Amino acid sequence: MDLKKTIELMNAEIASFELQSNEALESFRIRFLGSKNKIKDLFVQFKELPPDEKKELGQILNQLKKTAETRFEEAKKSVGSSKKKSGNKLDLSLPAPTELGSRHPISIVRNEVEEIFARVGFTVSEGPEIEDDWHNFSALNFPEDHPARDMQDTFFINDDFALRTHTSSVQIRVMERSNPPIRTISPGRVFRNEAISARAHCIFHQVEGLYIDKGVSFADLKQVLYYFAQELFGQDVQVRFRPSYFPFTEPSAEMDVSCNICGGKGCNICKYTGYVEILGCGMVDPSVLENCNIDSEVYSGYAFGLGIERLTMLKYGINDLRLFFENDVRFLAQFRSEG
Ligand code: DAH
Repeated sequence: MDLKKTIELMNAEIASFELQSNEALESFRIRFLGSKNKIKDLFVQFKELPPDEKKELGQILNQLKKTAETRFEEAKKSVGSSKKKSGNKLDLSLPAPTELGSRHPISIVRNEVEEIFARVGFTVSEGPEIEDDWHNFSALNFPEDHPARDMQDTFFINDDFALRTHTSSVQIRVMERSNPPIRTISPGRVFRNEAISARAHCIFHQVEGLYIDKGVSFADLKQVLYYFAQELFGQDVQVRFRPSYFPFTEPSAEMDVSCNICGGKGCNICKYTGYVEILGCGMVDPSVLENCNIDSEVYSGYAFGLGIERLTMLKYGINDLRLFFENDVRFLAQFRSEG
């Protein structure tokens, strides 16, 4: 067979050589690139050719050598990368990753408060964070220029609107739009112009409670709040009510629970009193009912407002409010909720 024909056949062999494994690569290398390879044999034959044939065949022989080298290099790369690919292949039968995110502690406690009150018939209602003077103050019996407005340092937006300073504004909105019986809680963010410290923040969360019906008494209020404290802190919790003042309730009170941190023995969280205040409450003032077109001769009701941050600090033994807003994962990852 002449040399030209042999080169053509070898070209075809190189092109069709199966090169999908390391073993195949190695036998290709030995056959076409190794120290005793087939192409070398052709170069030996080439040397014997008469000079006029050498010119043409020299070129195609060199080309053959190059083709073998390129084919080998490319095949080597693709065998390597397909190896890597199969190493990373997704195993879809594996269980899903277990590193799930966690709920913010404020959300965990808010959800828990909602569940506790839902069990005794309270619905959840919401209102806007930007409020007008009527809903945040006037309808709640804070007269214009009355010093009680100074109880809460307000962020005003303009003459007519402010960021709500408490969720009591939602009481008014609910009473305006619905007829008794009303039994609802309103969780949400509130805003006050306060210097930020371990004990105060300009944004925090409250839950407002409202119950309006015929014949509602202070005894009903005490009972539902005692039930709430037991559900949240355990059956052994102690509660106490102290007289207080709020413009929208009469009579008004504040409720303390026995300190969850020291069990009532006294610590720096409860300032060595054994009790911590968690909410304000009272019987809805008849004039507030009238402001919302509810007949105060027929209906009575109670209201309460609690701070979620305070409850969360007590429940988990957290002593700095700022931690809730810093979003440090080392803090957040410590909280787990069932729901
Ligand atoms: N709104 C009050 C506050 O922000 C809390 C409060 C007290 C709400 C007594 C009430 C209540 O509904 O009856 O401090």
